[in-house]
Amino acid sequence: DVRLSRRALLRAGGLSVAAAGLGGGRLLAGPADLVEVELVARERLQRILPEPAGLSPLVTYADRFPGPVIRLRKGQRLRATLVNELKEHTSIHWHGIRLPNLEDGVPFLTQPPTKPGERHVYEFTPPDSGSFFFHPHCNTIELLGRGLAGVLIVEEEGGPRFDADQVCLVKDWQLDKTGQFGAFTSDRGASRAGTFGTVTTVNGEIGPTIEVPTNGDVRLRLYNVDNTRVIDPRIEGAEAWIIAVDGNPLPPRPLDGWPMGPAMRIDVVFRAPKEAGKTVRLTNVYAAEPKPLASFRAAGAALPNKRFAPRPLPPANIPEPDLKAAQVIPMAFSAAGAAQSFDSVLLTSLPYADQLCLAQKTFWAINQQSWPEGGHERLPPPIATLQKGRSYVFELANLTPHLHPIHIHGYTFKVLSSDQRQVVPHHADTVLLEPKERLRVAIKADNPGDWMFHCHIIEHQETGMMGYIRVA
Ligand code: C2O
Ligand code: CU
Repeated sequence: DVRLSRRALLRAGGLSVAAAGLGGGRLLAGPADLVEVELVARERLQRILPEPAGLSPLVTYADRFPGPVIRLRKGQRLRATLVNELKEHTSIHWHGIRLPNLEDGVPFLTQPPTKPGERHVYEFTPPDSGSFFFHPHCNTIELLGRGLAGVLIVEEEGGPRFDADQVCLVKDWQLDKTGQFGAFTSDRGASRAGTFGTVTTVNGEIGPTIEVPTNGDVRLRLYNVDNTRVIDPRIEGAEAWIIAVDGNPLPPRPLDGWPMGPAMRIDVVFRAPKEAGKTVRLTNVYAAEPKPLASFRAAGAALPNKRFAPRPLPPANIPEPDLKAAQVIPMAFSAAGAAQSFDSVLLTSLPYADQLCLAQKTFWAINQQSWPEGGHERLPPPIATLQKGRSYVFELANLTPHLHPIHIHGYTFKVLSSDQRQVVPHHADTVLLEPKERLRVAIKADNPGDWMFHCHIIEHQETGMMGYIRVA
C-alpha cells in the first residue's frame, strides 16, 4: 500500500509510484521534480510455498517482495530514506545507476554502514532511463537471498508507447518444505557455480499467471535477481523482441538467446494473444529443456490489429569511450591461488567501527587479488586506478570453468567483442563472462570515486571475486 496523501498527489504532479500489486513502500510528499520514498528494511512474513507450508521470513524494503517499484520520469530526483530495522548493519546500492560515488551504497567504501535503528538518506538524479534495481551491499548472500531488493524504473522521454508495462523479477528461494530458509551458501556451491535455491518464482510467486491486454504489445521488464541462477528467457507462443539490456536501448531484435546472469535485466516487447483467455509462456531454456516461469493471459477486449514491429527506444546518453586512445587493462577472473595473497591489506582509515559482516572463505580472485575475508571493513588496494576523463578497455578474462556475471558500479560498459562469440554491440552494467572467455568492454572514466567491480553470483562476490576501481 503506497500511502499518498491528496496534498502529495497535487504537489507530486505526474509522479508515479507503481504499486501494481508489487509491494508498496511509503511515498512521501514532494515537489514534482523530487520523488521521496522511505524504505524500511526488516523481516516480513510472506507466503512463497503453498499450504500446508508456512509463511517464509523474508527480508524486504516494503510490504511484499518484490517491492517497492519506484518509477521516476527521466530528470526527476530521488530521495530515498533507508530505515534499518534489521539486527545487522546494511546499505542500499543502486544497481546500474551512474550516480555520485557517495550515493553508491557500499559500506566502508562510500558510506558508513547504516546500523540497526539508523537511517540513511540517498539522493540523486539518475542520468539514464531504464530498468534498474537496488539491494544491500553487505551480507548479500543472506539478505538478497531472503528478498531484500526493490525496483527502480526511470521512464524515458518520448519514444514508443506500449499497451502494458510489466515488471517480472525471477528469483529462487532457499526454502525447506515447511517454508523456512535453509543454508544460503555452501563451500561446494561457493567454490563452483553457486548454491541454487529450491524453488523458482516470478515476483515471489511460483508460476504466476499475469494478465495482459488482449492483442496488445507488452513491455516486459525482466529481471534476474537471483543470487546464482543463469536464465535464458523465451516467450513461447508469441512474437517477442528484445529492446533494452540493463535499461540501455538495443536496436530491436528477436528474443532468441540472451542468457542473463544474476543482476542482468532485459526489456522485451511481446504481442499478447489475439483472443481473451489465451496464454503465452515465459520460459527459461538455459542449458536444459524449457522450464516454465510464468504465463501471460490475455484479458479484456482485443486491441486493434497492427503489425508487430517494435520501435527503438530513445538513444542512451552514455559517454562514448575513445577506443583509439584507450588504455587496455587486463582483468583476470580466477580461482584464488596460493600465490595470490597481497601484503598490503589496508585497514580502512574511515571511522566506521561496526560489527563484522558474515565472514566468508576465499575461493576467487580478480587479477590474483581476493577481497579480504570478513566483509568490507578491511579494504584492499584498488584493482586499478584510472585517470578521470581517459578511456579504458577492460579485457575480462575468465580463467575458470564457471560463468561470471561481471558488474561495475557507477558506470555502463560498452560491450565490444569476445574471442568466443559474435557480440551484439550494446551497453550493460553487468556482462556474462562465459567459461574461458575473453570479453572486451570499454568505459570513459568520467565519474570519479571508488567503484566496486565484482562478480554478481553473490557467493563468488563474497568469497573473493570482488574489488574496486579508483577513478581520480
Ligand atoms: Cu548489484 Cu555491487 O551490485
Ligand atoms: Cu562469479
